[in-house]
Amino acid sequence: MLKMSSKEISNIREDYIKSKIDFTSLPESPLTFFENWFNMALLNDKENAISFVLSTITKGNKPSSRVVLLRGIDKQGFTFYTNYNSDKAKDIDNNNYVSANFFWHNLEKQVRIIGIAKMVSPEQSDQYFKGRPRGSQIGSWVSNQSSVVNINEDFSLRTEEIEKQFKGLEVSRPENWGGYCIMPEKIEFWQGRPSRLHDRLVYIKKGDIWVKKRLSP
Ligand SMILES: Cc1cc2nc3c(=O)[nH]c(=O)nc-3n(C[C@H](O)[C@H](O)[C@H](O)COP(=O)(O)O)c2cc1C
Repeated sequence: MLKMSSKEISNIREDYIKSKIDFTSLPESPLTFFENWFNMALLNDKENAISFVLSTITKGNKPSSRVVLLRGIDKQGFTFYTNYNSDKAKDIDNNNYVSANFFWHNLEKQVRIIGIAKMVSPEQSDQYFKGRPRGSQIGSWVSNQSSVVNINEDFSLRTEEIEKQFKGLEVSRPENWGGYCIMPEKIEFWQGRPSRLHDRLVYIKKGDIWVKKRLSP
């Protein structure tokens, strides 16, 4: 039973008042703009700052979304790590256009990214993998992400097996585990404003140039 009626749910309202976009002074690159907002988000709530919804398109042309964690930003784009046999990886294999959505509620900010996901180099994945806690490293050998398992599956047996295998050794990176960089083609910045008259700024890549546009809320 829902604890709230539909009427009560429809009455949950919030007026966004915390900030605005200064359209008179915009950087040439959306990555500079992103870094500025991301710094604010990190100061506010680190875990929330790095979480984003990654959407892919399945082979059957259906959208599929899930949360992943941002693990790096550079001139190329936005990097996350995952299992290369997972459903999302299969989707990317088939159609490498993805969308990323950051929502920083406390800051009343949203960022929407569309871009091409490309595997990062094995060296870059190795470097990131080395810095992960040992438990997570073992876990990436244990889990064949997105595959169906028995309802009463006990991962501890396989975990023990892998732990034995790597006893006294550094855990190597499974070949089917690594990063993707999302190379953006379009980035929209949304800042909540009073009376739903929000600020929306979009950067669209045309060749080597980023074209800026303001959108109606
Ligand atoms: C807060 C949070 C962070 C997550 N971070 C990651 C991540 O960085 N990489 C990843 O593969 N899955 C991550 N997941 C799990 C994914 O949401 C998803 O369940 C998993 O990747 C399988 O997705 P798929 O079957 O569509 O490939 C995270 C989930 C949550 C809720």
